[in-house]
Amino acid sequence: MKSVLITGASSGIGLQLASDYLENGYRVLACGLDVVKLKAVLSHPNVTHYAFDTTSVEQIDQALGQLSAPDLIILNAGNCEYVNDAQQLDAALFERVMSTNVMGTVNCLSVLLPRMQAGSHVAIVSSSVTWLPLTRAEAYGASKAALDYLARTLAIDLQDASIDVSLIRPGFVDTPLTRLNDFPMPAKISVTDASSRIRRGLERRQRVIDFPFLFILVLRIFSWLPVSWWQSIAASMRRHSL
Ligand SMILES: NC(=O)c1ccc[n+]([C@@H]2O[C@H](COP(=O)([O-])OP(=O)(O)OC[C@H]3O[C@@H](n4cnc5c(N)ncnc54)[C@H](OP(=O)(O)O)[C@@H]3O)[C@@H](O)[C@H]2O)c1
Repeated sequence: MKSVLITGASSGIGLQLASDYLENGYRVLACGLDVVKLKAVLSHPNVTHYAFDTTSVEQIDQALGQLSAPDLIILNAGNCEYVNDAQQLDAALFERVMSTNVMGTVNCLSVLLPRMQAGSHVAIVSSSVTWLPLTRAEAYGASKAALDYLARTLAIDLQDASIDVSLIRPGFVDTPLTRLNDFPMPAKISVTDASSRIRRGLERRQRVIDFPFLFILVLRIFSWLPVSWWQSIAASMRRHSL
């Protein structure tokens, strides 16, 4: 039986992926902050629950230290906070976003990678935010840009170990995280749709999984514009969202 480890499996995209992989006959190692919450949302004979905070390498090591590495790991746990006043940057906000999104991912990799076998597969969940600088996303966007670079570099450096690395960059997905957003979210898709696109991309061992297609196409076209043009467009978006 194939196995998949998913962080952030108690909610949103991670929860949907865990449920879908269980339905498809996988053994699922479901990781979250809180074991009670995990057990309440995911109960199945083929699921094992692991509770740890990804920002603590000690907690990860304690929870997963003895585990034989799974076939696939999906590092999905993350958070998002937006900057309200760019002239008054809140260092504590950056610390929270960076430590969960960047160091949380690195911490999991540091515990799991040494035990991963040839032929196994690592997936890192970034975001479509990295296509372009978007208003108020100074912290979130920077954290996801770091993950993009991390995933692309690991994909090169893990080739000799025959470990594949996929970078996942979703557009807006309807989850508890985006339900907090107070601005329009173009091309938002359901979490079931997101899960099937991610699983299909991982099945094909795609290096980069970008979706939904039309939204990404628009971002890609905007990314070809001169920087000053994009800055004017993005600034007008900010004025409209205030
Ligand atoms: N939704 C979107 O539109 C969208 C778009 C692009 C990228 N993403 C990325 O997709 C990933 C999942 O997002 P989502 O929308 O599914 O959000 P979500 O519903 O808020 O789920 C986030 C998950 O991460 C867990 N988590 C957060 N901090 C953690 C920590 N320090 N240690 C361990 N687990 C932690 C949460 O646990 P608790 O439930 O216990 O808090 C939860 O299971 C994130 O990396 C996000 O940046 C989302």
